Amino acid sequence: QAATTYEAENATISQGAAESNHTGYSGTGFVNYDNTTGSYVEFAVDSPTAGPATLTLRYANGTSTNRPMAIAVNGATTAKDFPGTGAWTTWQDSSLTTTLNAGANTVRATATTANGGPNLDRLVL
Ligand code: GCU
Ligand code: CA
Repeated sequence: QAATTYEAENATISQGAAESNHTGYSGTGFVNYDNTTGSYVEFAVDSPTAGPATLTLRYANGTSTNRPMAIAVNGATTAKDFPGTGAWTTWQDSSLTTTLNAGANTVRATATTANGGPNLDRLVL
């Protein structure tokens, strides 16, 4: 099944903002999470079929401190590390395997430390 790209700047943003001041993003920008625990981006994902899928988040973290997030797929959470990428303009993919329902799904990426999340470019799934 072909992968679909969901841009973070078009998703539901809680405690963050769509920005474009660091180059290298896809679409029209990325989400800058507020530097606070609980800030999140939620994607509405439609899947034609139920079953396993690889979820890939593209992010940048210009600090040397990990920015871990809880990745919740339909409410079921996996903890994921987002270590430094070297610069805010250096973007890296981070993947995990998940299970989707047929039809509507939600993928929410929530910052779990007071540093907030990394800058988030997109979800490919
Ligand atoms: C800088 C950077 C932002 C980033 C922020 C952070 O301000 O320009 O894009 O989100 O640091 O530390 O979270
Ligand atoms: Ca930020």
